[in-house]
Amino acid sequence: MKPADPSALPVRRLGLADLPHCMDLAQDRSWPREERKWRLLLESGEGFGIDAPDGGGLVGTVVLTRYGRTAAAVGMMLVASRYGGRGLGRRLLGHVLAEAGDATLFLYATEYGRPLYEKLGFETVGLIEARTGRFDAGDEPYGGPGPGRSSSRPAEPGRDLAALCALDVEVFGADRSRLLARLFTFAEQVRVAERDGALTGYGAAWRSGDRLFVGPIVAEDDETARALITDLARDADTRIRIDLGHHRRELTSWLAGHGVPQTSTTSFMVHGGRALPGDRSRLVASFMSALG
Ligand SMILES: CC(C)(COP(=O)(O)OP(=O)(O)OC[C@H]1O[C@@H](n2cnc3c(N)ncnc32)[C@H](O)[C@@H]1OP(=O)(O)O)[C@@H](O)C(=O)NCCC(=O)NCCS
Repeated sequence: MKPADPSALPVRRLGLADLPHCMDLAQDRSWPREERKWRLLLESGEGFGIDAPDGGGLVGTVVLTRYGRTAAAVGMMLVASRYGGRGLGRRLLGHVLAEAGDATLFLYATEYGRPLYEKLGFETVGLIEARTGRFDAGDEPYGGPGPGRSSSRPAEPGRDLAALCALDVEVFGADRSRLLARLFTFAEQVRVAERDGALTGYGAAWRSGDRLFVGPIVAEDDETARALITDLARDADTRIRIDLGHHRRELTSWLAGHGVPQTSTTSFMVHGGRALPGDRSRLVASFMSALG
């Protein structure tokens, strides 16, 4: 029997056994069925969901990914279309806000999600462009070694993970090391950029459905970012997707000139409009929208 108030339905922790229901819910909202992505998120973060009162799987999901105690990302906020507008989104988001404690919470909002996030105290602090297309490296000179400039090479976990995490915590401002360790099995490629033996950036490319996602990309400057993106994407047999700040005009027009146009925009929102830690000028592309 359906309770009178769906927003009072219990929220429970999700596990890997819920994967098929998460994907069914995504499909209900015309999102792709991305099993590898859900698996990574449920294993490295905390998934929460609301069971359908009529026994038909899940009617709501959200994933909280903590980065140490200071910051956390919110993603995969979904409510079944047949339960839309009945307070489930508010209930799930309120639940993760309570779970997150003092951590600074951030997320990428679609135009559908933004009104709900604004109601619960998130503020837009930037715009993110999703770019999708067949990357055409052309005769791009980046990626090869050159005097005084960064070049990229495949990363090796034993040799590079510690330095990569040390660079990342400076840039991201919170500890992503557990997730970054997983990158080596999740991604098809992880590369590091170096200049004169010093680490100047890193990047990864991972597959989901029919697209190769390029991210995260951390780079000390645009030239290093171009080297990493070119080397990660030059042999892609499919469309690439990369999410980066709208303000990065030089990189976004470079991507447009290499066959990767803008396909959508999301709002980067932070709860309470709090300042995020780290040096985000070097955080070029996000890992994925659910993770920042
Ligand atoms: C976005 C989504 C999660 C909202 O869930 P929901 O259960 O319908 O939202 P709620 O009923 O809890 O709404 C909470 C509040 O936000 C408001 N709200 C939610 N969506 C809104 C919209 N699109 N426009 C205006 N207001 C909206 C509601 O009016 C409500 O306000 P109130 O509590 O003051 O009455 C749901 O529409 C969804 O799954 N959409 C598709 C997937 C998606 O885009 N997810 C967001 C990714 S960033």
